[in-house]
Amino acid sequence: MSGSTAYQGTEADRIKAIRKMQFSFPIEKGAHWNVQRPEFSQIVNAASLAMPYLEPYLIRTMAKVRAQIDDPVLVKELNSYIAQETTHYRQHKQFNDTVAACGYTSVAPFEEVLKRDYAGFGEKRSLKFNLAYAEGFESMALAIGHMLVEDREHLFGDADPAVASLILWHFVEEIEHKNVAFDVFHAAGGTYAWRMFGLIFATAHIFLRTGQGYRALLKEDGLWRNWRSRWQLAKDLGRIFRKLTPKILRIVNPAYHPSKVRDPEWVTAWWALYGDTPAEMGAQLGRLDTSRLEEPTPALVAA
Ligand SMILES: [Fe+2]
Ligand SMILES: [Fe+2]
Repeated sequence: MSGSTAYQGTEADRIKAIRKMQFSFPIEKGAHWNVQRPEFSQIVNAASLAMPYLEPYLIRTMAKVRAQIDDPVLVKELNSYIAQETTHYRQHKQFNDTVAACGYTSVAPFEEVLKRDYAGFGEKRSLKFNLAYAEGFESMALAIGHMLVEDREHLFGDADPAVASLILWHFVEEIEHKNVAFDVFHAAGGTYAWRMFGLIFATAHIFLRTGQGYRALLKEDGLWRNWRSRWQLAKDLGRIFRKLTPKILRIVNPAYHPSKVRDPEWVTAWWALYGDTPAEMGAQLGRLDTSRLEEPTPALVAA
């Protein structure tokens, strides 16, 4: 499978829609959109700050390789992937601006670092490297998506509906386009060794930057030197990594293909909800009822 030059997913696996979402981010709640979990809020905020730089870089990488892909189905998926990632980073930019507007002075210099990182990768590194980074990131995003959806009640329960919905929508679509970077990477001649390098490099890079980001944000909150907060942060990270590790380990298998990873029921139900009436669902799915996340299908705040 890894030597294939074509799209390997089934017909049902293909990207179903480029969705128009509407979120209304709550400036009054500040960056602690999950008031019970300020540390987790800042981990997510730090990761979100990377999106307007990381995702355009993925898009540029995919656009560069497009001419090398022969399979028309894979080209179509690649184009839909680019369209989805474009909607992701635009929504994250709006959210990031609300975080910055809360008065965090570390946001702007941190954004500069991220901008430099991804511009540097695109300009100085080979296309092979950039494709391996893209595939490494997407495999990790699939693992993170499954972890977030599985643990949604614990992580997002009673949190602000718009921010919880932004993150869950993003990962619902990461799960939806799970096959694209993998198949493009192999169609362009990617090998197992490069795939592993990309996974390790992208994971290490993103975790390093996210760690720097939440440390800076928590320092501005005055929480970084608070032992209770540090203990909570350690517990949050411990839980995340405990759930994430088996999902990351399956990526290491030489026979891994993302199409073999079954989509969670909550995610397929989310797709079905949007598909029924997209015009209104973009707004409704932008504010999930976070008091009912334990339910097997997404519950919406009453209109
Ligand atoms: Fe994305
Ligand atoms: Fe993605």
